[in-house]
Amino acid sequence: MSKNIDSVLNENRVFPPSEAFTARAALRTPEEYARLHRWSVEQPEAFWAEQAEGLDWFRKWDRVRNWDNPPFAKWFEGGRINAAFNCLDRHLAERGDKVAIQWEGEPGTAEDRRALTYRDLHREVCVFANVLKARGVGKGDTVAIYMPLVPELAIAMLACARIGAVHSIIFGGFSAPALVDRITDASSKVVVTADGGWRRGQVVPLKHIVDDALKNTPTVTSCIVLKRTGQAVEMVPGRDVWWDAATAGVSSECPAEELDAEHPLFILYTSGSTGKPKGILHTTGGYLLGAQLTTRYVFDLRHEDVYWCTADIGWVTGHSYVVYGPLANGATVLMYEGAPNYPGPDRFWEIVARYKVSIFYTAPTAIRAFIKWGDAEPAKHDLSSLRVLGSVGEPINPEAWMWYHRVIGGERCPIVDTWWQTETGSIAITPLPGITPTKPGSATFPFFGIDAAVVDDKGNELPNGQGGFLVIRQPWPSMLRTLWGDDERFRDVYWKRFAEQGYYLAGDGAVRDQDGYFWILGRIDDVLNVSGHRLSTMEVESALVGHDAVVEAAVVGFNHEIKGEGVAAFVTLGVGAVKTDALKDLLKRHVRDTIGAIAAPDQIHFTDSLPKTRSGKIMRRLLRDVANGVESKGDMSTLEDLNILAKLREEED
Ligand code: PRX
Repeated sequence: MSKNIDSVLNENRVFPPSEAFTARAALRTPEEYARLHRWSVEQPEAFWAEQAEGLDWFRKWDRVRNWDNPPFAKWFEGGRINAAFNCLDRHLAERGDKVAIQWEGEPGTAEDRRALTYRDLHREVCVFANVLKARGVGKGDTVAIYMPLVPELAIAMLACARIGAVHSIIFGGFSAPALVDRITDASSKVVVTADGGWRRGQVVPLKHIVDDALKNTPTVTSCIVLKRTGQAVEMVPGRDVWWDAATAGVSSECPAEELDAEHPLFILYTSGSTGKPKGILHTTGGYLLGAQLTTRYVFDLRHEDVYWCTADIGWVTGHSYVVYGPLANGATVLMYEGAPNYPGPDRFWEIVARYKVSIFYTAPTAIRAFIKWGDAEPAKHDLSSLRVLGSVGEPINPEAWMWYHRVIGGERCPIVDTWWQTETGSIAITPLPGITPTKPGSATFPFFGIDAAVVDDKGNELPNGQGGFLVIRQPWPSMLRTLWGDDERFRDVYWKRFAEQGYYLAGDGAVRDQDGYFWILGRIDDVLNVSGHRLSTMEVESALVGHDAVVEAAVVGFNHEIKGEGVAAFVTLGVGAVKTDALKDLLKRHVRDTIGAIAAPDQIHFTDSLPKTRSGKIMRRLLRDVANGVESKGDMSTLEDLNILAKLREEED
């Protein structure tokens, strides 16, 4: 970590927002930020009560914040609210004909371009909500959604929110066993899917994967299938129904349920440092407020903006910044189904120019791919509509930041490097585009209500320049409430380490520089960040060990030019298994089939044994050095057998 600290603290470039930008921004001066932030952490109840007026409530709350029983927070108790109502109904009178979702499918044909107004979206959501009800879905039931990035995905989630059902969206890149785990853990009754989705010119056979999964998910009684790609699929009578058939003739009258502010809105699974994914639970009022307020201020959202967050809705970024945040603000959201390089590497820039996108939010891994594809690609298109750029998912390396600033932003667009997590629900550390002088690679300062700090292992705040644990010292409205069905694990993972102080442990290392800017240094646990997505090393290890040929596996991350972190697996084979390249390919495919493409190892190293301490702990630090092709330094005295390392290195030659 100390090498990281040195390198981030040597970054001295500062980019203040232009006067022209600031003059029109919603928030303009550092004093305004300082005043609001101080107010938000010193008097959170007063601050959040005022912000909550920006949402529509059926009934106002009795109490803003309840932290009587930490770590279980409650916000806006007694309040009644509906997220779908806030994203749709309340906009109808003033801007019912405004485009809510401008969608483009990957094939890009004329019928693949759809614009849904707020009125259209409202109607479709009401219809689908009635379909769910007819299939037995009620308040508190969970619905699994496994779909491509099409408007119906947003429709399905808002339909759940409308009737108080809890959506559990599973990213379309996950495989059947990963679906089984998530559907089972959430006891989902209904699955909403599509025949397939387009990805780089190929069909991802979603329904086929669901069919595989549903063999092992007794809770599921119903599966609704959208026709997207048109290939043949099997429909199980009594269980499966086409979206079109299910919605035909269904009423578009469906009043929004008046739900408790703390009513569960969704579960979203994410990786932790053990094999089993964690079901992050978010509730209605606090989550929606976080998503709405951050979208407005972090992106300086205005009504005329065309807003594009490129994330898939299967990740939290898509939940908060494709659907709930922008729609709660009545924005026009752009949605694009497919790959950034299909049919050519300028697809994103073509879309920006076609729809005059003004706010563009993407991930460093995508930016690094764009850099590789060359400056000529964005230069083919008019990007002058852009005015704010965002980055999320991993620390953005300063070179990528500078390229984004220069080539995409034309040196005129502020870049907001937003740090947050599935658990935080909404952006937590970020520049404000009209105010914050940015430094390439720094997420800068905490958003309102976020009392972030860098502390040592005793919980003492560290002086600037010293790296430590990133914590949040008091609850905030959009924080996770628990892990679905596992309060104990919730306590253990996030609250145990600083139980005395009551701090939330983010799981990231961080350092503040001499100006107090936050620099995120990466994960402190066994969680990898592959292309901005979380992956637990344990999950990949158990997938590998699940293969007959493998007896032991250790997985570590290594520096990867595009993905940020790549997956390296060190594998010990059982008797009879032969170390061949074909077996390496087979194991990669096995991980892909067990978890999903994102987890497939980039490197597989066969080894007769793993470097362990005398007490049997795998020395991952040494494996990381091998995977990165660098010399191992530091203490090796605890290593049981020094030869192992030499052998591992020989194998690489
Ligand atoms: O390590 C941090 C990294 O991504 C983790 C959260 O992952 P996930 O819940 O999948 O959410 C990703 C999108 C919000 C964090 O613990 N991370 C996310 N954004 C940044 C980041 N690291 C550095 N800078 C960021 N802007």
